[in-house]
Amino acid sequence: MNPAHPERAAATSTSPKLSSKAERFTESVIREMTRLALRYGAVNLSQGFPDFPAPAEIKNAAKAAIDADINQYAITWGAKKFRDAIAAKFERTQGVAIDPEREVTVCCGSTEAMMSSMMAIINPGDEVVVFEPFYENYGPDAILSGATPRFVKLRPPDWTFDPDELAAAFGPATKAIILNTPNNPTGKVFERAEFECIRDLCVRWKCFAITDEIYEHMLYDGARHISLASLEGMRERTLTINALSKTYSVTGWRVGWVIAPPEVTAAIRKVHDFLTVGAAAPLQEAGAFALQLPQSYYDTLAEEYAARRERMLGILGGAGFKCFKPRGAYYIMTDISAFGFPDDVAFAQYLVKEIGVAAVPGSSFYRDPADGRTRLRFTFCKKESTFQAATERLAKLHPSR
Ligand SMILES: Cc1ncc(COP(=O)(O)O)c(C=O)c1O
Repeated sequence: MNPAHPERAAATSTSPKLSSKAERFTESVIREMTRLALRYGAVNLSQGFPDFPAPAEIKNAAKAAIDADINQYAITWGAKKFRDAIAAKFERTQGVAIDPEREVTVCCGSTEAMMSSMMAIINPGDEVVVFEPFYENYGPDAILSGATPRFVKLRPPDWTFDPDELAAAFGPATKAIILNTPNNPTGKVFERAEFECIRDLCVRWKCFAITDEIYEHMLYDGARHISLASLEGMRERTLTINALSKTYSVTGWRVGWVIAPPEVTAAIRKVHDFLTVGAAAPLQEAGAFALQLPQSYYDTLAEEYAARRERMLGILGGAGFKCFKPRGAYYIMTDISAFGFPDDVAFAQYLVKEIGVAAVPGSSFYRDPADGRTRLRFTFCKKESTFQAATERLAKLHPSR
């Protein structure tokens, strides 16, 4: 310690202070569960990635692109061919015509698309409305971009929201609402009347909507996916986020995009450029191929996931879990009250270490951990041998041990 220069002494005796933003959130619980699954040799039903192969034709398109030497930087906001395919698919499926030159930014997964979008629109003091339970990334996204989240509850069994509660969350400080449909973790698919309610609030308070639509093709029981941007009055204020990850079973490729009005896209492109420069060039080429697949590809995908949903509902129901049946996406939220554990984290730890099955504690989807205390989320984007292994292991589990 140097008494003559206390500030110098302080600098040498302690480490430099880390970002106070980074101190405000923990590592991802979902990704942590995958690490625990590996450590304990557990069947991994936590993180949402398929354990079956990606479609051969899409893999071949990626290999062909590498062989054709599409190996250097693509245009920073996305290869033209890929942006054209994104625009064509959005018009084909949602009836919304967009300009691929001015309204699309290709990013490193929808994760980066969300972060770049938030950083492009948020100013100090801005608030974002977030439905709860929420996909856990939205919390750190808000902190890193400087937004204050205002949470609105989705309530089981149908995960509906109270329109008055939603209206009360909006105000002069609201910059955007973040909406994920089909929804992770609940499996909720938002309906037209709910979208109209959201639209009216966005128009009234002159704010944006950021929609995360990466499960758009995983729909069950006749559910239909609606893009908020297709509603009158929303085209000019919606940022629509999507990715190759889930629809084409390539979560490791890290290719996503955001569709937004031209002036918003201009800001997003700048943030994106300095964050990552661009997404993998050959994989964008394969993406251009994937997005032109015929409707039969998506029909088969939905049918196969519907069968996996039934399989998983049977396994979990048989093991004593109370399941909330999802209408979309590939997760099942469960009620674990019957097992008599003090909370979701204790139960998830017991499951992964003693039973050999990894799932995600419900508290990681809520601001207040107490709200997720009796819940656990399982994913069903898995192959038959994984379901069989899970069935065998869960047979050791007994409600109210
Ligand atoms: C709702 C939601 N958004 C985004 C992501 C991440 O997507 P990507 O792999 O495209 O970054 C996930 C992954 O599980 C998710 O569930």
